[in-house]
This record gives sequence, structure tokens and C-alpha cells, in this order.
Amino acid sequence: MLTLGVNIDHVATVRQARRTIEPDPIAAAVLAELGGANGITAHLREDRRHMQDRDIRLLRETVRTHLNLEMAATEEMVAIALDVKPDYVTLVPEKREEVTTEGGLDIAGSLEKLKNVVDRLQSANIPVSLFIDADEAQIKASADTQAKFIELHTGKYADAPKSEIRQKELESLKLGCEQALSLGLRVNAGHGLTYINVYPVACLPGMEELNIGHTIVSRAVLVGMERAVREMKLAMRGEF
Ligand code: PXP
Repeated sequence: MLTLGVNIDHVATVRQARRTIEPDPIAAAVLAELGGANGITAHLREDRRHMQDRDIRLLRETVRTHLNLEMAATEEMVAIALDVKPDYVTLVPEKREEVTTEGGLDIAGSLEKLKNVVDRLQSANIPVSLFIDADEAQIKASADTQAKFIELHTGKYADAPKSEIRQKELESLKLGCEQALSLGLRVNAGHGLTYINVYPVACLPGMEELNIGHTIVSRAVLVGMERAVREMKLAMRGEF
């Protein structure tokens, strides 16, 4: 069954706009689960622009589905993950000046470092997912790290200006999914997915989990978190 991981970072973004205590991402996680989220995703960035350390600790205690901690492969973050023990970790590239995660990880370009990080996390029973573009060499290198999962970057698909380009990007995602499965990797996907564009990605054979944030939090501001998540679950089944 295809599952939905709800990324609640932008609830914390609103809170940090005033450096206050509301809205609380922990409450958002509870409501997302009531709306049918299969997992909760939070990205603890090096600059702490949205999620705070306190959020990750409280999410660990509160989340009843599974907690996916998104983070950069740094010593600081590895130490936090080993302490908090999320249900899985997604390693992402991080640049301070970016608005959101821009591209996939270059696994092939830093194989030894990533192998080491994957090994330390997975030895502590924290499965690792690597956020990568649907690129043959990156998928192969991901398998070489022994990571359990990859998360295919759907940004190029989501941002495609024309339907032919979107179709081409969807085909790359499909091929990436097939290659990854044949190498024994499990496959998630995310970035830029919306109520409108999610269904074709949801239909890709072997896809396990979609991680979706911005569009759900945006809708939640207007209709509430439970309804926004319920509607995304419908969109993933082509029923919205
Ligand atoms: N997956 C990863 C690895 C991400 O970095 C993000 C953005 O934080 C998402 C999924 C969710 O993207 P969006 O907010 O565009 O749905």
C-alpha cells in the first residue's frame, strides 16, 4: 500500500516567523495522523529555520505512526538522530541560502562519507533513505551505500513547464523506481507534489511512500489539517 508521510516543517516556519510558540508542529502532527497520515516527516536544518531540537524530541514522543527525520549528513545531525531514534532518517543535501532542498544528494561524489553515515545509523536500527534524482549512477551508488531506501526527487516533474516535459520526467521516475527495486532498494518520492500532480507519481509501480509538505500545510491553513490530509489521501487514489 502506498503511504503518505506528511512533512510539517512549514507549520514551524509560521511559528518561527514570530519566534513564538504557535502554531505548534506537534499539534499539527497529531491532527495529520487523525486525518490519515501514515507518517510524519520533519527536517531539522542546520540553521534551525523551522523545526527546532525541541520539536524533534517531542515528535518522537508523540507520533504514533512513524517519524521520518530529514537531515544533512553532518556529525551534529548524526548525533541527534542516534539520540532521538526516529523510525527512519532521510539524508538530504543542505545549503544555507536555499529556500528549500534544491537537488538530490550526490551519492556517487561522496560515497565513502555517506557509506559511513548510513552504516552508523543503520547499525543503530535506524533505516536510511537517500534523497536523490532519478539518475542511474546515483541509484547505483545509493545501493552501494547499503541504504534501505531512496527518495526520488520529484521536483523536476512537479516544476515541468509543459506536459511533454512532465511526461518525460515521469518516465525517468518510473525507470528510476524500476532500477532501484531491481537493486534491492525500497523507493519513496517527494518534493513539489500537489493535489493536482500527485496521482501519476502515486501510480508508479513499487512506490512505497510519498513525502508531501508545502501543499498540505498550505491547504491546512484554509481548511484545517485533518481535512487537508484526508483530501491528499484521496488525491493519491485519483479520487479528488
Ligand atoms: N522530501 C524531501 C527530501 C524534502 O526535502 C522535502 C521538502 O522539505 C519534501 C519531500 C517535501 O516537499 P514539499 O514541501 O514540496 O511537498
